[in-house]
Amino acid sequence: MNKVRLGVNMLLQGTLIRHLGKHVGEEVTVQGWLYNKRSSGKIQFLIMRDGTGIVQGVLVKKEAPELFEMAKNFTQESALRVKGVVREESRSVGGYELTVTGLEIISLAEEYPISHKEHGVDFLMDRRHLWMRTPRQNAILRIRAEIEQAARDFFHENDFTLVDSPIITPAACEGTTTLFELDYHGEKAFLSQSGQLYNEASAMAVGRMYCFGPTFRAEKSKTRRHLMEFWMIEAEAAFFDHEDNMKLQEELLYFIVQRALERRRKDLEYIGRDVSKLEAIKLPFPRLSYTEAVELLKSKGEDFTWGDDFGAPHETIISEEFDAPVFIHRFPTEIKAFYMKPDPENPKVVLGADVLAPEGYGEIIGGGQRLDDLKLLEQRIEEHKLPKEAFEWYLDLRRYGSVPHSGFGLGLERTVAWLCKLEHVRETIPYPRMLYRVYP
Ligand code: 4AD
Ligand code: MG
Repeated sequence: MNKVRLGVNMLLQGTLIRHLGKHVGEEVTVQGWLYNKRSSGKIQFLIMRDGTGIVQGVLVKKEAPELFEMAKNFTQESALRVKGVVREESRSVGGYELTVTGLEIISLAEEYPISHKEHGVDFLMDRRHLWMRTPRQNAILRIRAEIEQAARDFFHENDFTLVDSPIITPAACEGTTTLFELDYHGEKAFLSQSGQLYNEASAMAVGRMYCFGPTFRAEKSKTRRHLMEFWMIEAEAAFFDHEDNMKLQEELLYFIVQRALERRRKDLEYIGRDVSKLEAIKLPFPRLSYTEAVELLKSKGEDFTWGDDFGAPHETIISEEFDAPVFIHRFPTEIKAFYMKPDPENPKVVLGADVLAPEGYGEIIGGGQRLDDLKLLEQRIEEHKLPKEAFEWYLDLRRYGSVPHSGFGLGLERTVAWLCKLEHVRETIPYPRMLYRVYP
C-alpha cells in the first residue's frame, strides 16, 4: 500500500499540500493555482491551492527581489509551480507555510469571474465548473468522496458483492409518474429510478449485494432535497428480514459517520460543521412505527390523517426529536410501492422503513422487506396498473427459489447535506441537475 503511494508521489514530481507536514525543513515543489494574494509592500503572501489543501507561500522583497517582482503580476487562479522550504506555522490555514525560493508560472489566468466577495447562488451555479475550486466546495467534494469510499469498504468487507445495475431500463421501479423517457431505437425505455428490481435478481445470484450508481427522478420538485439526477447506494440481501435490514442500515450509517469524523474532521470543521452533533450519534438508532410517528405529529399540533404520506415539514418535525437517525417503519400499504411485503400481523402496513436524518434533514433511506410470494406480487402489479409483461423476469425470481429478502437505498446527496449541514443538496454533487438547471 505504502509502496504504491510513494510511486505515485514520485511520478507527480511534486509534493501535495496535504503532505507538507512530512517535509518540515525541506525544500519542496508545490504545483497548483493561486487562490489569493496579499501584500504588505515588503512581503507578499501567495495563497496556493492544489485540491488537497491550501498553503501560504511567503516572499520577502529584500531576500528575493526578482521573484518578488515576478509575483506582482500573478492573477487569481494562475497556475504555478512554487519551490519553497516548509515551515511550521500554527497561525496558517493548513498549519504550514512555504518560504518561497523559486517560482514558475505555468499559465497566467485571465481576470477570474469569482472574486473573494460574496456572490449570489445563481451566479455561482452558472459557474459551477469554477466554483468547485473554492476551498469550501473542495472540502465538500472530499467529504462526499469519503462517504462513497466508506460505503464501498463497509459492504466489501462484509461479504456484499458489488453488482452494477443498469441505467437504461424497460420499466418503472418507483411508480410511473417520475420517469425520464427515452427513445431506445424506436422502443420506449427509461432512465432508472432505482437499481432495486435488478438488485433482487442479483441477491438471488450472489446472496448479498450492493450497487452504487446514478438514479433519475423526473418529478417536478423544487425543494432543497430534490435532484433530478442523484446517486444511490443500494443493498439487497437474501434471507434478510425487515429487522436484519434495519440493523444493516444503522451499522452502515454509523460506519459512515465514524469514517467521516476520523478522516475528514478537518474538512468538516473548515466548513463550519459542529462535529459534536455527529459524535453524539450512538447505536442502536431509535425506531418508531408510522402510527407512533402520526401520534407524535398530532401531539405537536399537526393536523394529520392516518394513511397520508409525510411531507418534508412532517419529516423535519419528527427528526428534530432525535439526536440520531430514526427509523419510521410499517407505513400504510396504500402509499408504498408494489414490491413491499405486507406485515403478516397487520396487512394494512408494510415491513418497510424510511430513515430520517437528524437536525431536520428528513428521509435519507428508503427500504424494506420484499414481497416474495408469486400470487400476491402478481396481484399487486395488477392493482398498481403496471404492465405485467415488463415484469415477467422479476416474477421469475418468485418462481425459482424465492426466499425472504430485503434491501434499501441510501441517497448520497441527502447524506452529504446532513453530514456537512448544508442548506441545500445542490452543493453536495459536482454538477446538480435541478428542475430549472442542467447547465453547466
Ligand atoms: O425512497 P426511495 O424512492 O427508494 C427507492 O428507490 C428504493 N427502490 C430503494 C431500494 O430499496 N433499493 O429512494 C431512496 C433514497 C431516498 O431515501 C432519498 O435519500 C434518495 O434516495 N432520493 C433522492 N435524493 C435526491 N433527490 C431526489 N429526487 C431523491 N429521491 C430519492
Ligand atoms: Mg422514499
